[in-house]
Amino acid sequence: MSTVLVTGGCGYIGSHTVVELLLRGDDVVVVDNLSNSSLESIKRVETITERVPHFIEVDILDRAELRCVFDKYRPDSVVHFAGLKAVGESVSKPLSYYQNNVAGTANLCEVMAEHGVFSLVFSSSATVYGDPETLPLREDAPLGATNPYGRSKLFVEEMLRDLQISDPRWRIALLRYFNPIGAHPSGMIGEDPRGIPNNLFPFITQVAVGRREKLAIFGDDYPTPDGTGVRDYIHVVDLALGHLKALDYLAEKEGILTCNLGTGQGYSVLDMVRSFERVNGVTIPYDIVPRRPGDIASCWADPSVAAEQLDWKATRSLDDMCTDGWRWQQQNHIGYLP
Ligand code: NAD
Ligand code: UD1
Repeated sequence: MSTVLVTGGCGYIGSHTVVELLLRGDDVVVVDNLSNSSLESIKRVETITERVPHFIEVDILDRAELRCVFDKYRPDSVVHFAGLKAVGESVSKPLSYYQNNVAGTANLCEVMAEHGVFSLVFSSSATVYGDPETLPLREDAPLGATNPYGRSKLFVEEMLRDLQISDPRWRIALLRYFNPIGAHPSGMIGEDPRGIPNNLFPFITQVAVGRREKLAIFGDDYPTPDGTGVRDYIHVVDLALGHLKALDYLAEKEGILTCNLGTGQGYSVLDMVRSFERVNGVTIPYDIVPRRPGDIASCWADPSVAAEQLDWKATRSLDDMCTDGWRWQQQNHIGYLP
């Protein structure tokens, strides 16, 4: 058993990862400033797992507070989810993104090193590949982000590579997530976006539950089988389990690992709408509207590095993602707030 500090552990992917860590017996310390989440997610995690993680409301930009947390809880490793993630907002508020995502990670690493903690799992994104030249995407594909959010992830990846070179005690996993969707099968925790969802899946569930009238499909003239965008959707529980495998890997191996977490399978927007309708017996009205600026046609992973290095594979299907995501939305019409 070890003690894992999880930054951003109240958020969407963090809360699902905390569940899996607690279920396997780790001690968990959650650090979150609640800027994009609520404490209710931790209460739900406690109900699911019948265990209690430590929670400290801290901004990772606050080094003094972070030091207190490390002094008190003495974690063995860190899983670092805390950060801002809205692409559009990153264009209008780039400094917030560089502060939270880049400076925040630098802060965290400084405090980790001061306390002799050198094991770090970082949330990167497939967005670092920009517009792919070839598919599926391997980790050695060319990199290039097109917005401040994506660049913040690229910069952190580079910063962490430099850090590991500077001090070989660091063991770092850079996990490039494809498109996480769905929810815990209990329906108790899930994605709870504030305002109008930017991403496809929460928009669909909000249409299904009656919070939005219609889905707008951004373009049907892409060079894809049905003309709509293709992505590698991954069940959030599979993604969470990838973090546990990454921690196991770091316990054994030195150095830095860059690794895609995806299924290797692409689905179009229309595939998603049809699966959701079929497995859940609902109708999702939609309009085709012009492309969203900045969108790419297709993106899916080559997940073989994760299979070989982490002994990890996604096992949950698109139908599972649709069923579990719908259960969460049905049980929580307006998210965590009553
Ligand atoms: P989320 O917004 O649900 O979770 C992030 C959590 O971090 C929130 O609880 C928020 O309150 C907290 N946080 C933000 N800034 C903080 C700060 N300065 N100090 C302390 N806490 C802070 O997002 P998520 O979807 O769970 O994503 C987690 C991570 O994975 C992010 O780094 C995100 O960029 C990355 N990622 C997400 C996706 C996705 O589609 N959801 C895809 C690729 C990568
Ligand atoms: C978005 C982000 C990306 C981030 C990823 C995972 C943008 C421009 N990109 O990418 O940086 O890494 O999420 O969180 O925000 N779609 C619709 N209607 C909608 C919403 C989406 O048709 O209302 C389509 C999109 O055009 C795309 C697909 O659905 O083809 C998936 O979109 P989305 O869920 O936003 O993910 P990404 O575009 O992959």
